[in-house]
Amino acid sequence: MTIENQRDLDGILAIGRIVAEIRDAMLAAVKPGMTTAELDEMGGQMLSRLGAISAPMKCYDFPGFTCISVNEEAAHGVPGARVIGEGDIVNVDVSAERDGYFADTGGTMVVAPVADGKATLCKATELALARALAEVRTGAAINQVGKAIEDVAKTHRLKIIRNLAGHGLGRSLHEEPEGILGFYDRGDRRFFEYGQVVAIEPFLSTRSSYVSETDDGWTLVGDPASRSAQFEHTVIVTDGAPIVATRSQTAA
Ligand code: CO
Ligand code: CO
Repeated sequence: MTIENQRDLDGILAIGRIVAEIRDAMLAAVKPGMTTAELDEMGGQMLSRLGAISAPMKCYDFPGFTCISVNEEAAHGVPGARVIGEGDIVNVDVSAERDGYFADTGGTMVVAPVADGKATLCKATELALARALAEVRTGAAINQVGKAIEDVAKTHRLKIIRNLAGHGLGRSLHEEPEGILGFYDRGDRRFFEYGQVVAIEPFLSTRSSYVSETDDGWTLVGDPASRSAQFEHTVIVTDGAPIVATRSQTAA
Protein backbone atom coordinates (compact mmCIF):
# COMPACT_ATOMS: atom_id res chain seq x y z
CA MET A 1 0.00 0.00 0.00
CA THR A 2 0.94 3.63 -0.21
CA ILE A 3 0.45 5.89 2.80
CA GLU A 4 -2.18 8.48 1.88
CA ASN A 5 -3.08 10.16 5.14
CA GLN A 6 -2.35 10.41 8.85
CA ARG A 7 -4.64 7.48 9.62
CA ASP A 8 -2.61 5.22 7.30
CA LEU A 9 0.65 6.40 8.84
CA ASP A 10 -0.57 5.93 12.41
CA GLY A 11 -2.03 2.52 11.54
CA ILE A 12 1.22 1.15 10.08
CA LEU A 13 3.33 2.60 12.90
CA ALA A 14 0.99 1.13 15.54
CA ILE A 15 1.04 -2.42 14.17
CA GLY A 16 4.77 -2.02 13.48
CA ARG A 17 5.42 -1.30 17.17
CA ILE A 18 3.33 -4.32 18.18
CA VAL A 19 5.14 -6.87 16.00
CA ALA A 20 8.53 -5.37 16.94
CA GLU A 21 7.75 -5.72 20.64
CA ILE A 22 6.65 -9.35 20.18
CA ARG A 23 9.71 -10.18 18.04
CA ASP A 24 12.06 -8.79 20.69
CA ALA A 25 10.24 -10.46 23.58
CA MET A 26 10.19 -13.85 21.85
CA LEU A 27 13.88 -13.70 20.86
CA ALA A 28 14.77 -12.74 24.43
CA ALA A 29 12.70 -15.63 25.85
CA VAL A 30 14.38 -18.41 23.83
CA LYS A 31 15.91 -20.99 26.18
CA PRO A 32 17.22 -24.51 25.69
CA GLY A 33 14.58 -27.09 26.61
CA MET A 34 11.70 -24.91 25.43
CA THR A 35 9.51 -26.11 22.58
CA THR A 36 8.75 -23.87 19.61
CA ALA A 37 5.04 -24.26 20.51
CA GLU A 38 5.72 -22.69 23.94
CA LEU A 39 7.56 -19.80 22.30
CA ASP A 40 4.72 -19.33 19.82
CA GLU A 41 2.14 -19.38 22.63
CA MET A 42 3.93 -16.40 24.16
CA GLY A 43 3.65 -14.58 20.82
CA GLY A 44 -0.04 -15.46 20.59
CA GLN A 45 -0.77 -14.14 24.07
CA MET A 46 1.04 -10.88 23.33
CA LEU A 47 -0.87 -10.47 20.06
CA SER A 48 -4.19 -10.84 21.82
CA ARG A 49 -3.15 -8.51 24.68
CA LEU A 50 -2.05 -5.88 22.14
CA GLY A 51 -5.25 -6.20 20.10
CA ALA A 52 -3.65 -7.69 17.00
CA ILE A 53 -4.29 -10.80 14.91
CA SER A 54 -1.65 -13.15 13.51
CA ALA A 55 -1.24 -12.36 9.81
CA PRO A 56 -0.11 -15.81 8.63
CA MET A 57 -3.11 -17.33 10.45
CA LYS A 58 -5.53 -14.80 9.02
CA CYS A 59 -4.15 -14.69 5.46
CA TYR A 60 -2.91 -18.26 4.96
CA ASP A 61 -4.41 -20.45 7.73
CA PHE A 62 -0.87 -20.99 9.02
CA PRO A 63 -0.91 -23.42 11.98
CA GLY A 64 0.75 -21.02 14.44
CA PHE A 65 0.70 -17.40 15.56
CA THR A 66 4.28 -16.82 14.39
CA CYS A 67 6.82 -18.60 12.20
CA ILE A 68 9.68 -20.16 14.18
CA SER A 69 12.50 -21.71 12.17
CA VAL A 70 15.30 -23.66 13.87
CA ASN A 71 18.69 -24.75 12.46
CA GLU A 72 18.11 -26.33 9.00
CA GLU A 73 14.71 -24.61 8.74
CA ALA A 74 15.11 -21.33 6.82
CA ALA A 75 11.60 -19.91 7.03
CA HIS A 76 7.92 -20.58 7.72
CA GLY A 77 8.80 -23.06 10.48
CA VAL A 78 5.64 -24.41 12.12
CA PRO A 79 5.64 -24.11 15.93
CA GLY A 80 5.30 -27.50 17.59
CA ALA A 81 6.99 -30.14 19.71
CA ARG A 82 10.51 -29.33 18.50
CA VAL A 83 12.72 -28.69 21.52
CA ILE A 84 15.21 -25.83 21.22
CA GLY A 85 18.72 -26.96 22.16
CA GLU A 86 22.02 -25.36 23.13
CA GLY A 87 23.80 -23.77 20.17
CA ASP A 88 20.67 -23.75 18.01
CA ILE A 89 20.01 -20.86 15.63
CA VAL A 90 16.43 -19.63 15.96
CA ASN A 91 14.52 -17.33 13.62
CA VAL A 92 11.29 -15.71 14.72
CA ASP A 93 9.08 -14.02 12.13
CA VAL A 94 6.14 -12.03 13.47
CA SER A 95 3.50 -10.48 11.23
CA ALA A 96 0.13 -9.21 12.33
CA GLU A 97 -2.88 -7.03 11.59
CA ARG A 98 -4.71 -4.41 13.63
CA ASP A 99 -7.42 -2.00 12.41
CA GLY A 100 -6.86 -3.22 8.83
CA TYR A 101 -3.11 -2.51 8.77
CA PHE A 102 -0.35 -5.12 8.54
CA ALA A 103 3.32 -5.17 9.53
CA ASP A 104 5.93 -7.92 9.22
CA THR A 105 9.24 -8.34 11.03
CA GLY A 106 11.80 -10.99 11.88
CA GLY A 107 15.04 -11.62 13.70
CA THR A 108 17.48 -14.41 14.40
CA MET A 109 19.47 -15.39 17.51
CA VAL A 110 21.77 -18.17 18.61
CA VAL A 111 21.28 -20.09 21.85
CA ALA A 112 24.49 -20.26 23.94
CA PRO A 113 27.14 -21.55 23.50
CA VAL A 114 27.38 -19.43 20.33
CA ALA A 115 29.68 -20.81 17.62
CA ASP A 116 31.65 -18.15 15.68
CA GLY A 117 30.15 -19.12 12.35
CA LYS A 118 26.59 -18.66 13.56
CA ALA A 119 27.39 -15.33 15.23
CA THR A 120 28.95 -14.11 11.96
CA LEU A 121 25.93 -15.34 10.00
CA CYS A 122 23.56 -13.31 12.21
CA LYS A 123 25.74 -10.19 12.23
CA ALA A 124 26.19 -10.31 8.45
CA THR A 125 22.46 -10.72 7.83
CA GLU A 126 21.68 -7.81 10.15
CA LEU A 127 24.25 -5.74 8.29
CA ALA A 128 22.71 -6.79 4.97
CA LEU A 129 19.34 -5.48 6.18
CA ALA A 130 20.90 -2.15 7.26
CA ARG A 131 22.72 -1.77 3.92
CA ALA A 132 19.57 -2.69 2.01
CA LEU A 133 17.47 -0.14 3.93
CA ALA A 134 20.02 2.54 3.01
CA GLU A 135 19.01 1.97 -0.65
CA VAL A 136 15.29 2.48 -0.02
CA ARG A 137 14.10 5.97 -0.97
CA THR A 138 11.68 7.60 -3.43
CA GLY A 139 12.78 6.96 -7.02
CA ALA A 140 15.57 4.50 -6.14
CA ALA A 141 15.77 1.29 -8.16
CA ILE A 142 14.30 -1.67 -6.28
CA ASN A 143 17.15 -3.88 -7.54
CA GLN A 144 19.67 -1.84 -5.50
CA VAL A 145 18.30 -3.60 -2.40
CA GLY A 146 19.43 -6.93 -3.87
CA LYS A 147 22.76 -5.43 -4.88
CA ALA A 148 23.41 -4.26 -1.31
CA ILE A 149 22.48 -7.67 0.17
CA GLU A 150 24.63 -9.49 -2.40
CA ASP A 151 27.63 -7.28 -1.57
CA VAL A 152 27.40 -8.11 2.15
CA ALA A 153 26.94 -11.85 1.45
CA LYS A 154 30.02 -11.90 -0.82
CA THR A 155 32.18 -10.06 1.72
CA HIS A 156 31.28 -12.67 4.35
CA ARG A 157 31.45 -15.63 1.93
CA LEU A 158 27.83 -16.46 2.61
CA LYS A 159 25.07 -17.61 0.27
CA ILE A 160 21.80 -15.81 -0.40
CA ILE A 161 18.57 -17.81 -0.34
CA ARG A 162 17.40 -16.67 -3.76
CA ASN A 163 13.79 -17.82 -3.65
CA LEU A 164 12.86 -15.80 -0.56
CA ALA A 165 12.25 -12.08 -0.96
CA GLY A 166 10.92 -8.86 0.49
CA HIS A 167 7.52 -7.50 -0.54
CA GLY A 168 5.02 -4.71 -0.37
CA LEU A 169 2.40 -4.91 2.39
CA GLY A 170 0.07 -2.79 4.49
CA ARG A 171 -3.55 -3.70 3.67
CA SER A 172 -2.60 -7.37 3.61
CA LEU A 173 0.58 -9.32 4.33
CA HIS A 174 1.82 -9.57 0.76
CA GLU A 175 1.14 -6.88 -1.85
CA GLU A 176 2.85 -5.21 -4.78
CA PRO A 177 5.75 -4.73 -5.21
CA GLU A 178 6.30 -8.49 -4.79
CA GLY A 179 9.74 -10.06 -5.18
CA ILE A 180 12.12 -7.52 -3.68
CA LEU A 181 15.01 -9.89 -4.28
CA GLY A 182 18.07 -10.56 -2.14
CA PHE A 183 20.40 -10.46 -5.16
CA TYR A 184 20.99 -8.05 -8.02
CA ASP A 185 18.52 -8.51 -10.88
CA ARG A 186 19.52 -6.36 -13.82
CA GLY A 187 16.12 -6.91 -15.46
CA ASP A 188 14.14 -5.43 -12.56
CA ARG A 189 13.18 -1.92 -13.75
CA ARG A 190 10.93 -0.98 -10.84
CA PHE A 191 11.46 2.01 -8.56
CA PHE A 192 10.38 2.77 -5.00
CA GLU A 193 7.53 5.27 -4.67
CA TYR A 194 6.96 7.87 -2.00
CA GLY A 195 4.85 6.50 0.87
CA GLN A 196 5.09 2.86 -0.23
CA VAL A 197 5.08 0.31 2.60
CA VAL A 198 7.61 -2.48 2.03
CA ALA A 199 9.14 -5.34 4.01
CA ILE A 200 12.86 -5.87 3.42
CA GLU A 201 14.13 -9.28 4.54
CA PRO A 202 17.54 -10.67 3.57
CA PHE A 203 18.11 -14.40 4.10
CA LEU A 204 21.79 -15.36 4.20
CA SER A 205 22.97 -18.95 4.60
CA THR A 206 26.08 -21.06 4.95
CA ARG A 207 25.24 -23.45 2.09
CA SER A 208 21.82 -23.20 0.50
CA SER A 209 20.83 -20.89 -2.34
CA TYR A 210 17.33 -22.32 -2.60
CA VAL A 211 14.85 -23.75 -0.13
CA SER A 212 11.75 -25.84 -0.68
CA GLU A 213 8.69 -26.93 1.26
CA THR A 214 8.89 -29.96 3.51
CA ASP A 215 6.14 -32.55 4.09
CA ASP A 216 4.28 -30.30 6.54
CA GLY A 217 3.41 -28.06 3.58
CA TRP A 218 4.96 -24.97 5.21
CA THR A 219 8.52 -25.25 6.49
CA LEU A 220 11.19 -24.17 3.99
CA VAL A 221 14.46 -26.13 4.09
CA GLY A 222 17.48 -26.35 1.79
CA ASP A 223 20.61 -28.42 2.42
CA PRO A 224 20.03 -30.07 5.83
CA ALA A 225 23.55 -28.98 6.88
CA SER A 226 22.91 -25.35 5.93
CA ARG A 227 22.26 -22.72 8.60
CA SER A 228 20.55 -19.46 7.76
CA ALA A 229 19.52 -16.14 9.25
CA GLN A 230 16.84 -13.60 8.43
CA PHE A 231 16.22 -10.08 9.65
CA GLU A 232 13.19 -8.15 8.48
CA HIS A 233 11.76 -4.68 8.89
CA THR A 234 8.59 -3.06 7.59
CA VAL A 235 9.45 0.43 6.34
CA ILE A 236 7.78 3.41 4.70
CA VAL A 237 9.53 4.95 1.68
CA THR A 238 10.37 8.66 1.95
CA ASP A 239 12.65 11.06 0.06
CA GLY A 240 15.34 10.34 2.66
CA ALA A 241 15.94 7.44 5.02
CA PRO A 242 12.88 5.18 5.24
CA ILE A 243 10.68 5.24 8.35
CA VAL A 244 11.28 1.91 10.10
CA ALA A 245 7.91 0.89 11.55
CA THR A 246 9.31 -2.20 13.28
CA ARG A 247 12.37 -0.72 14.95
CA SER A 248 13.31 -2.24 18.31
CA GLN A 249 11.84 -0.27 21.23
CA THR A 250 14.47 -1.49 23.67
CA ALA A 251 17.76 -1.03 21.77
CA ALA A 252 19.30 2.43 21.52
CO1 CO B 1 7.92 -10.64 4.96
CO1 CO C 1 8.14 -11.91 7.88
